[in-house]
Amino acid sequence: MKNSNIGCVILAAGEGTRMKSQMPKVLFDICGKPMIGHLLCTVGKVKKFTKFYIVVGYKAEEVKQKILSLDETKKIKDKLEFVYQKEQKGSGDALLKVKGYLSKEIKHLVVLSADVPLISEKTLNMLVEHHLRQKVDCSVLSVVLENPYGYGRIVRDISKKFVGIVEELDADESQKRIKEVNTGIYVFNVEPLWKALEKIKPNNKKKEYYLTDVVKYISSKDALVCSNPQEVKGINTRRDLIEAIEIVRKKIIEDLLLSGVTVHLPETVYIDINTKIAQDTEIFPGCVVQNSEIGENCKIGPFSFLSNTKVAKDTQILYSYLTDVEIGSNCRIGPFSKIINNTKIYDNVIIGNFAEITRSIISSYVKIKHHSYIGDTEIKERVNIGAGTITCNYDGIKKSKTYIGENTFVGSNVNLVAPIRIGKNVMIAAGSTITEDIPDNTLAIARSKQTIKPQHRIIKMLFE
Ligand code: UD1
Ligand code: CA
Repeated sequence: MKNSNIGCVILAAGEGTRMKSQMPKVLFDICGKPMIGHLLCTVGKVKKFTKFYIVVGYKAEEVKQKILSLDETKKIKDKLEFVYQKEQKGSGDALLKVKGYLSKEIKHLVVLSADVPLISEKTLNMLVEHHLRQKVDCSVLSVVLENPYGYGRIVRDISKKFVGIVEELDADESQKRIKEVNTGIYVFNVEPLWKALEKIKPNNKKKEYYLTDVVKYISSKDALVCSNPQEVKGINTRRDLIEAIEIVRKKIIEDLLLSGVTVHLPETVYIDINTKIAQDTEIFPGCVVQNSEIGENCKIGPFSFLSNTKVAKDTQILYSYLTDVEIGSNCRIGPFSKIINNTKIYDNVIIGNFAEITRSIISSYVKIKHHSYIGDTEIKERVNIGAGTITCNYDGIKKSKTYIGENTFVGSNVNLVAPIRIGKNVMIAAGSTITEDIPDNTLAIARSKQTIKPQHRIIKMLFE
């Protein structure tokens, strides 16, 4: 059998009414990748597929643009065609729309539903091989479910031969008890498929052209049971969606555990598919990590949120919120730090409780241990920022920059009114409001002198 004649169709035109959303269903996120992205990632790995047809309809342009922007699409772009289904008249009608686009050499079509996104490459290969080996015209992938509610049921005759599919809405009571269901994944030989598709009628409860009805008109057919129900989970409702997310979330954590990362109380941890974590790092309860890279031997959490963040090795992050940040090795962050907006932190830095840092560069061995706001600032090596120090970077109109040279010691409760440049080896007295640049190797004091008034009227009133 030549491999060049197998095409892959993804039905993605449906509105997804049951999600009750403005967003097309296939764009819903599952652990950092839209539903359709998961499927594209898998089909891109199946070497047998030489052409891809994605049927779009509901919000077609939005869906198409999103698909084209995905990394997964890049791999298959040259072999990909979008097929339009203007009116959503059912899955059968959607598949028939592919006919006009089909390359002549395609003799078999693997048909997938965009809302069944977790199917594995292995199962797809198995189904195709089964189809070719059995030399049938139609192979349906089925699965046995404890609770088959909502799915089309696989009807078999007395000799267990596959005869048809009945949708939930159209099934009678005895059919509803059937636990073997249609996964919405099929392989067809092209000629008999088109003939059968032209015969189906929308005479069912939904008044739709059901793809499942083609089975009636194709005599040479088989249903192959998939052994893993998780792979063929269909997503119609938000309940289905969170169940699918849970399947992927658990798989991601399972893979991390196998690769040498400890995830404590894993049921409380969400790590997305775009995150990489190196060996011997520990993730503590209550963490969310998205699109991030964490080096070896770090301790993250408990209760930290990291997004678009890169952390080198041996760093600890406790109870903190970080987005778009790069952190060096051997740093101590938190508890309760907020670090955002392309802040870069070098090695051996300590950022303590209630420190907020935005758009800043923090060099090695800097300490910002308590209650500070550092914005639009560059801090050089070994600077100490005292408790309560604030960079006043915003005058109500524009943001301005602060620079602090190496070794400088900023006392507690200092205001640095930007734009401002503080030299190296400087000491700033506690409580100063600094409005003018400070040269290297100097002490700056900018606060009113303390006065002592003995025998003051108030003191007399209170204590005498
Ligand atoms: C479908 C199957 C059902 C199966 C289940 C598995 C039919 C009639 N039924 O039911 O037997 O158990 O999947 O998950 O197919 N679509 C279009 N255009 C349309 C309508 C649908 O492209 O006009 C696409 C949808 O985007 C979706 C797929 O077809 O990817 C299936 O449609 P959906 O309405 O979700 O069917 P189900 O009720 O889930
Ligand atoms: Ca569905």
